[in-house]
Amino acid sequence: MYQIKNFDVDVFLSDYWQKKPMVIKQGFTDFQDPLDEHELAGLALEEHIDSRVISLKTKKWQVAHGPFEDINQHCKGAWSLLVQAVDQSVPEADELMRAFSFIPHWRMTDLMVSFSNKDAGVGPHIDQYDVFIVQGKGSRRWQIGLPGDYESKVPHPDLKQISEFTPIIDEILQPGDIIYIPPHHPHNGVALDYCLNYSIGFRAPSPQEMLSAFSDFSIDNNLFTQRYLDQKIAGRKYPGEIKQQELKQFKDLLHHAIESAQCSQWLAEYLSTNNRLKNNEDESIEAYSVEEITELLANGQTFVREPGIKPIFIESQESENNDFIFYIEGQAFNSPANTREFVQNFLHSAVFSPKDALPNDISLFFTQTLTTLVNSGYWFPE
Ligand code: SIN
Ligand code: CO
Repeated sequence: MYQIKNFDVDVFLSDYWQKKPMVIKQGFTDFQDPLDEHELAGLALEEHIDSRVISLKTKKWQVAHGPFEDINQHCKGAWSLLVQAVDQSVPEADELMRAFSFIPHWRMTDLMVSFSNKDAGVGPHIDQYDVFIVQGKGSRRWQIGLPGDYESKVPHPDLKQISEFTPIIDEILQPGDIIYIPPHHPHNGVALDYCLNYSIGFRAPSPQEMLSAFSDFSIDNNLFTQRYLDQKIAGRKYPGEIKQQELKQFKDLLHHAIESAQCSQWLAEYLSTNNRLKNNEDESIEAYSVEEITELLANGQTFVREPGIKPIFIESQESENNDFIFYIEGQAFNSPANTREFVQNFLHSAVFSPKDALPNDISLFFTQTLTTLVNSGYWFPE
């Protein structure tokens, strides 16, 4: 169980989040790495996993993309292996990421893990997103500066860096230390010896990204097809002129789509999508019947949530028949209204044991929801 110490969430949220960087010394005491470099290298061999090796040798930067057959050939000079979405593969990495749940799950993307040798790093750069970086084994010097107008450098087509910056934080992190870097703050981490780092990344979509995805949703579901109407069209001197009122009518049509219940549903689906890693195992899931799940529960069977699953829901949202609605990986799930409280707790626990408490009045309804989740590959009997 990872729990951040020496840290006041309220002070962090009011004074630091999206505002200024912070170092949390010994945020994790006696820090245990959730995986080692060998497991990390193993993940980088897998087809469905996004990984890179960034290296600097004789002043030349190189970037190689996984999956790797022979990773060693890229690990020359000072190098870092970076693997995305490790929270979806390693339950302990998922647990580490959840220590940051004081920021809502719909704001999170994934846990990226890097392993670096001495002097390695990805060079000074700026990220668009907030990040927490946890120091695992080894130590690394981190420098963080203030937002500004920095000269960009592209030493390799897949690597964006910046010129020098003046650090306002210059610290050597030891295992269990954490840094928080808000968006647009230049930073540079240089490994002092072999080291592991865990980056908790966040999402902040732009209107451009959202409009594009919302447009796909409206096409897929054949929504918002009503057309512009103007029974009271005004006469005008210039046929090329659009009146302000007419412009407003066009915008009202768009507003209508944005204000709709479907748009709220789409937003929750969109924010629940973590581009889950797909591997072949997903296809071989056997469907359980409600009776089978009922029997397993009666026998005290424990159910475990797949790593990386982060269900979300909208405050007080209900379906037309008052069902509780929650979202996982872009899909909406319904559970009867009387299960709301129970299911909310269930969704956020990694392990569910029927011995914990399964109130009689909701037992059948909950079992139906659990069956759907098991058959969708998000929970499994263990
Ligand atoms: C890392 O190399 O682990 C983190 C890179 C970064 O975003 O600064
Ligand atoms: Co960065």
